[in-house]
Amino acid sequence: MPSDTKNPRPDFRKYRCYESSVMSPDVDVEWYSKIYFQHRHRLPLRLREDFCGTFKVSCEWIKQSAKHTAISMDLDPEPLAYGHARHFLRLTPSQQKRLKVLQQNVLTPPSTLSDVISAANFSFFIFKQRKDLKRYFKSCLKSLHKDGMLLLEMVGGPEMLKVVQEKTRYRGFTYIWDQKSFDPVTHDALYAIHFKIKDGPLLKDAFVYDWRLWTIPEIQDLLREAGFKRVTTYWDRKGNGKGSGEYIPVTQGRNHGSWISYLAAFKND
Ligand SMILES: C[S@@+](CC[C@H](N)C(=O)[O-])C[C@H]1O[C@@H](n2cnc3c(N)ncnc32)[C@H](O)[C@@H]1O
Repeated sequence: MPSDTKNPRPDFRKYRCYESSVMSPDVDVEWYSKIYFQHRHRLPLRLREDFCGTFKVSCEWIKQSAKHTAISMDLDPEPLAYGHARHFLRLTPSQQKRLKVLQQNVLTPPSTLSDVISAANFSFFIFKQRKDLKRYFKSCLKSLHKDGMLLLEMVGGPEMLKVVQEKTRYRGFTYIWDQKSFDPVTHDALYAIHFKIKDGPLLKDAFVYDWRLWTIPEIQDLLREAGFKRVTTYWDRKGNGKGSGEYIPVTQGRNHGSWISYLAAFKND
């Protein structure tokens, strides 16, 4: 069959590598529920996963019970197509009914209210201007139920400012994190992920991230300015910067080379 050069088949290998190296959707789902429970003393049921990519987290979310629902939003049709083939089609009909996947800008969300809106893997860093990020936060606030929570995953630390590459081996491929550039004046940071398939090609620039590296206090201030009543910052419990996977509420953090932190912003106190 002649190949369609206009619409070549997307190379899904990068999503397979990404999911097995970067993501832990079962841990994420447990974590979202745990934080929400700490503040609201009940389990959240309605998730909106912003910047959802292959929406694997939403698929885990709706597996929790027949009452759990999820809305997944991403602009890019390619990861959504992968998620459809790889995850959505494997769900039961009841689970499929409780998951709505939208190819849509997070700035123009549907009117359905959520208990939790998540922006994982630092995705909101794509908004480089304060006014754009504030618009996003305000729109999230509007889309939250009165007890609702916006959960933001952040990354930072002096190591994130360096131009370096770091390789990690996984079964069947090597993950290469490439910090291409950082501008100390604008805090613009350009990062990429490449994958080297074992005995196969290098998937160069499989994912490219053109971000502003926001700081925690900037985001705390902006969330409050956007109207969130309570903002709690979570920091790695072991405090060694290695990511123990256990995060606790803090008002101060230790200075690590690089760190991951979560900001939980509540619509009401
Ligand atoms: C860093 S990836 C995150 C994927 C996934 N959430 C994860 O945790 O691995 C960022 C995703 O955000 C999407 N994206 C960027 N800007 C967006 C926007 N304004 N609205 C919706 N999705 C957007 C991109 O298409 C990309 O799939």
